[in-house]
Amino acid sequence: ALQPKFIDLAPNALDPGFLFKDLNDNGGPAQQPNFSLRARETVQETGLINTKNGKRLKTKVWGYGADTVSWPGQTFQVKSLSAGGAPETVVRWENELNGGQHLLPVDTNLHWCYSLHGAGSANGVDYRQFTIKKDGVPIITHLHGGKSDFQFDGNPEFFFSPDGKIKGPQWDYVPGGFTNTFRYDNDVRAGNLWYHDHALGITRLNVYAGLAGFYFVRDEYDTGMADNLLSLPAFPYELAYAIQDRMFTEKGDLFYPAFPGDPFYDDFITGEGAILPPDLFPGGGPTALAEFFGDHMVVNGKIWPKANVEPRHYRLRLLNGCDSRFMAIRFRVAASSGATDLNGAGAPLPFYVTGSDQGLASSASLTDTLVIEPGGRYDVVINFSGLEDTRIIMENIGGDAPFGGDLGDEVADEDLFPDRQTDRIMAFDVVLPFNNAIADSFDPATFNAWAADLGFGPPPVTPGATIRRVALFEGLDEFGRLQPLLGIVDQDSTATAFTWFQPTTEVPALSSTEVWEIYNFTGDAHPIHLHLVNFNILGRNEISFTEGAPVPVLQHNGTLGQVAGISGVTEGGAVGLGPTDGYVENAPKDMVTALPGQVTRISATFEKPGRYVWHCHILSHEDHEMMRVMQVS
Ligand code: C2O
Ligand code: CU
Repeated sequence: ALQPKFIDLAPNALDPGFLFKDLNDNGGPAQQPNFSLRARETVQETGLINTKNGKRLKTKVWGYGADTVSWPGQTFQVKSLSAGGAPETVVRWENELNGGQHLLPVDTNLHWCYSLHGAGSANGVDYRQFTIKKDGVPIITHLHGGKSDFQFDGNPEFFFSPDGKIKGPQWDYVPGGFTNTFRYDNDVRAGNLWYHDHALGITRLNVYAGLAGFYFVRDEYDTGMADNLLSLPAFPYELAYAIQDRMFTEKGDLFYPAFPGDPFYDDFITGEGAILPPDLFPGGGPTALAEFFGDHMVVNGKIWPKANVEPRHYRLRLLNGCDSRFMAIRFRVAASSGATDLNGAGAPLPFYVTGSDQGLASSASLTDTLVIEPGGRYDVVINFSGLEDTRIIMENIGGDAPFGGDLGDEVADEDLFPDRQTDRIMAFDVVLPFNNAIADSFDPATFNAWAADLGFGPPPVTPGATIRRVALFEGLDEFGRLQPLLGIVDQDSTATAFTWFQPTTEVPALSSTEVWEIYNFTGDAHPIHLHLVNFNILGRNEISFTEGAPVPVLQHNGTLGQVAGISGVTEGGAVGLGPTDGYVENAPKDMVTALPGQVTRISATFEKPGRYVWHCHILSHEDHEMMRVMQVS
């Protein structure tokens, strides 16, 4: 049963009480590391109410924190090197998930931490001897958007179990071996980074359980203080919201469909409504899903919350932390005033987009709809003045918007499940009096003038950059489940799909700039993420290709899946997507939406050597082989 909406206040992830304390900020002699934090189980009120007795339900979640942990994890706020910060931020990660079980059903038939076997792994260890019950949950934190040395980047094969007893195979290649003290490069610009778990084959579950949080970088321009040059609203007028979709049981537990008969199981197992035999695996066991779409929208761990705001400009730092759901957000005034109002009405309010994943935009774009891909972050300024005593609802209009491109199944589930109400995210009640002591300063002209002067926006494009053609496929795994894959397009315009462990094909030279052409041969949109870099989205073109007979795809366990053979790839007309379509891409990005039947071009510079990864950020896809190594050397 769905719960009443817009009851609880959304915690602001930039509230001082939500920020990690920098251990070196005590005034005393510098200590190391700057931050020490743990991943551990806790209980939280998400806003669910026991319908029988009206009491608040408690939800078991996993969180990151210094002392107490929370979902989402506490927020990092660090200073860039250029703004006088230290060259690196040093973080010690403690894995305290030693409770002997996962919060969610683990599909042990996937390629995951404890299915690595001697032959396929770097150090010859057979990880199949380990179990969560006996050895705890393996985790590895990725700083998404960070320019980290490879051993601190949170690659999936760098996982470690509680107390570091079991270490992923890639640690054997690190000079000095395993450490849980990670160093993050501060020689970067201000941006909206986030951190989340990335353990091989269970990322979707660890993130679903709660292992994600914000990591904001501040610099000399984006200071986070009032009176900044750029006129950006500052705390308490800067609000950070991690938006995620979830399902819950009647008792308030997190729920993830994994067994025949579970709600939505049949729809998610392939993403297309097909039903698979109940005994999918020999011996049974839970299965991973092709995609996951929840029925509750959760903001900073609260279901359908609200914020009380003043009639002025606010800066919203938004993260799409969903497994699979593309969001298209807009803001509308509620149909009438009153706390029970759930529906917006009338024209959507215009707002400015001032930045995205890894920094500020080249100019503030005015729009009324914004597509945020899973894994993506946007920096938005909205004006609540003149809206006194109204409620503004942040809506997610999913598949109905004029996106200028079909987002495919990822957003079409409202049609399948009309009662899910994931079209509402949260509400803003304009009920606080205007505080005259702090000016309402935002001015797009001021922002744009500085943005032009200081060269904000995506990284510049190098003429003559190497072109790399990569591709997205949809195949079937050895059990006949839908399996999305990555691969390459060859010189002769045939395309080849690979699983995660097959030999590395993406090998950019250190310090080189490459243009990646991402061919999407699937029927869905996929949010593509490259570690290490930020990129410039150059544009998109239609493609055509021929789908031939299925070819085998080698799986991690030596069995075969299959994918349609692709040949005769050619390029058609350009596809223009801009703010009027909901796409704002004039900022440094580390996520790009690759739409079906299109090639999407990005350009990026690879500034550190080592083993990184690129993948689809639909977490269910990356856990099911839609991820590849990227070796910079
Ligand atoms: Cu946000 Cu490789 O991930
Ligand atoms: Cu995908």
